[in-house]
Amino acid sequence: MRLEDILFTQGFGTRHECRGLVALGRAAFNGEVMTDPDAEIAVESLVFSVDGKDWPFCARAIIALNKPEGYECSQKPLHHPSVMKLLPAPLRVRGVQPVGRLDADTTGLLILTDDGQLQHRLTHPRRHVPKRYRVVCRHDVTQDLVQKLASGVLLVDEREPLRASDVVRCADNVLEMTITSGKYHQVKRMIAAAGNRVEALERIAFGKLRLPTDLPRGGWRWLCGPQAIV
Ligand code: URA
Repeated sequence: MRLEDILFTQGFGTRHECRGLVALGRAAFNGEVMTDPDAEIAVESLVFSVDGKDWPFCARAIIALNKPEGYECSQKPLHHPSVMKLLPAPLRVRGVQPVGRLDADTTGLLILTDDGQLQHRLTHPRRHVPKRYRVVCRHDVTQDLVQKLASGVLLVDEREPLRASDVVRCADNVLEMTITSGKYHQVKRMIAAAGNRVEALERIAFGKLRLPTDLPRGGWRWLCGPQAIV
């Protein structure tokens, strides 16, 4: 791929800006500064750098973010900054978007990608991709609560009861539960419908990907491909 195209596809600005970055010697490819924007290089396993910062070449970006409280997943946030603020400009420019949404006060694993097919595959209701949450409840987690969540609770405006595919009590007022659908405020509404209240909510897994324990709140990392998730 041409050097100009490499920077352009990876979100480093307009074609004109990308040509300039290469021509000015601000970009290196596999460690070598190359200044002809029309020169070609193989992109497989390519690591390039711009102004000394390394980037892997990824045809499609798939990112895991440990979302902190106080960020909105919406593109047009109303009350808090957007999660997109936590990502560097090239990822925003290349059109990375959150896969589904977490509430502003929910923390934990958020996937972002610019791969439309993957976005669809991870969010389509018929795919039933599991999402696991750690829930701190206001009141003790009783056997009755666990049983109601596991057998299904009917939420206002829903036709069918929604159930957790797995529920485990972890401490007096803490449980973990897995859901395979993604309705609005689903976990909070399910817990409320079962007679308790969510005090804190963290997503700890999406598909087969667990929230990496070494990823700090507000931190992000590349995922090597969809197989990390589904
Ligand atoms: N369920 C909720 O209620 N909120 C979230 O952010 C995610 C799932």
